[in-house]
Amino acid sequence: MTPAPVTSLADAVDATVADAIARAVPESDGAQALVRRSDFADYQANAALSLAKQVGRPPRDLGTAIAEAVGGELIAEATVSGPGFVNLTVADSVIWRQVAARLADERLGTATMLDGRTLVVDYSGPNIAKEMHVGHLRTTIIGDALVRIAEHLGATVVRHNHVGDWGTQFGMLIEYLSDHPEAEWHRVDEADPTANITALDRLYKQARTAFDADPDFADRARARVVALQSGDEATVSIWRDLVTVSTTAFETIYDRLGVTLGDTDYDGESGYNDQLANVVDELVSAGIAVESEGALCVFFDDVQGPDGTPVPLMLRKSDGGYGYAATDLATIRHRVRDLSADEILYVVDARQALHFQQVFATARRAGWLPDSVTADHVAFGTVLGADGRPFKTRSGGTVRLADLLDEAEAKAAAVITEKNPDIEPRDLAGLATATGMGAVKYAELSTSRLKDYRFDTDQMVALTGNTGVYLQYAHTRMSAILRKAAADPQTVITDPTTLSPPERSLALHLDAYNAVLVETMAEREPHRLAAYLYALAKAFTSFYEASPVLRAETETLRNNRLALVQLSKQTLAHGLGLLGVSAPDHM
Ligand code: ARG
Repeated sequence: MTPAPVTSLADAVDATVADAIARAVPESDGAQALVRRSDFADYQANAALSLAKQVGRPPRDLGTAIAEAVGGELIAEATVSGPGFVNLTVADSVIWRQVAARLADERLGTATMLDGRTLVVDYSGPNIAKEMHVGHLRTTIIGDALVRIAEHLGATVVRHNHVGDWGTQFGMLIEYLSDHPEAEWHRVDEADPTANITALDRLYKQARTAFDADPDFADRARARVVALQSGDEATVSIWRDLVTVSTTAFETIYDRLGVTLGDTDYDGESGYNDQLANVVDELVSAGIAVESEGALCVFFDDVQGPDGTPVPLMLRKSDGGYGYAATDLATIRHRVRDLSADEILYVVDARQALHFQQVFATARRAGWLPDSVTADHVAFGTVLGADGRPFKTRSGGTVRLADLLDEAEAKAAAVITEKNPDIEPRDLAGLATATGMGAVKYAELSTSRLKDYRFDTDQMVALTGNTGVYLQYAHTRMSAILRKAAADPQTVITDPTTLSPPERSLALHLDAYNAVLVETMAEREPHRLAAYLYALAKAFTSFYEASPVLRAETETLRNNRLALVQLSKQTLAHGLGLLGVSAPDHM
């Protein structure tokens, strides 16, 4: 049994004010307290303003009545300001007790609100025999953060890496490879498995050129597709090799990034191949899919092109081949029927918004996606280069992810060496990976996912501003203080001191950790957690600049401040961990 989460001060204040309203304004009928953080006190309650009309009394009168009715040990002071805001100051002893309670809880006071729920998260999904591009980096990093947060909140999470491992393009590539036994793609570079996929990507482009230029090759490529689909031994064996070489390359990237996707998380398109005919048949019998110009399609009343003509979802092309949409319908049916998903998240490029809108609507009509199950397209924008233009190499090609990660790591190493010139080379290597990969992931996660974002490695590894490196440094400073103090990690606050304004801000900010996790998950927006952690690091800096910790005036003050440092460090490390960013103790 996990313990009940610590009630946050904001919630406790809300309940206290609601109770005061019920007593002071009985005709208010269970009105909300509307408590927010305030610049003038710890919190403010805005209830009087919205209640005034409802009960026909001036808001300032109501505010006064509410302020007078607020009682109990929680609130030290309640005053009215402006047109009727109630400003609330929490008692110092309560704030310190709260810090101690969060410290004593190994979950730092966070909830398990997703207990008993099953989430399927579809993310990463690169394509076999093709280079992973920066878009795949986005889905991989955002998806992995959401998975970690959902698991922390108690959900059972099924990771699905829906790799593109099926389709007519494999006929083309396999035919080309058997025409060119000399082509190198197995062990291009022993040290770097991602080089194999770079080679395959190039061969794939050559295969496509041959397909377009040579009708004889095109015919043989089509025959290969049939051979692959009917399980021809020689063809399937090459296909399997392609899958192995590609997934080995993907896993090299995942390992480097510290992404939690493993080899049991693949849920590739090929696995649904033998269900596609059935999926489409069911939709035809239900009258949901209809024939249109030889193809089988689903139409929607509310989906039209700019010229007003309907835009259908195509399930089967006129040549009989099933497409991406049929597969996605099969995945939904499987995830709901066989895996009992309560929520399905698709972390996929925003350009696929229409596809998912149509797939979800079709699945709902078919009864495969009941109203009790949520399906969310967790969309994200495009990655731009540092110059703000679409991210491409100078020759217009795809930028290799492995090269980008090398670049981020090298720049991180330079930043660390500059700060710490005497660092041991052995320590530097480990740290450069931690900070370089942390920088790339944090840059992604600190941007609102729907915005296009600039991939700028110089900005990512900067020591100042909202960067992973800045947060990691803040963490090492907290660690250093605790190391020097040799503090007992379970600091108990026996004697509550008066909190200075920076101490209060820090303590109240720490108290909002659970609320921000809940909100981050509800909105599927990791940047909310990132912004919270950045604000935490800044609140900590203001506190630390204003308040000596190791040389505090009294022993009590020193202990209480150490507790704040301890809770700051644990919260920052925990939050970074949920974003998949490491929190080193030294840098
Ligand atoms: N392989 C696809 C791509 O590279 C992404 C797959 C996303 N997942 C899904 N269930 N459609 O764009």
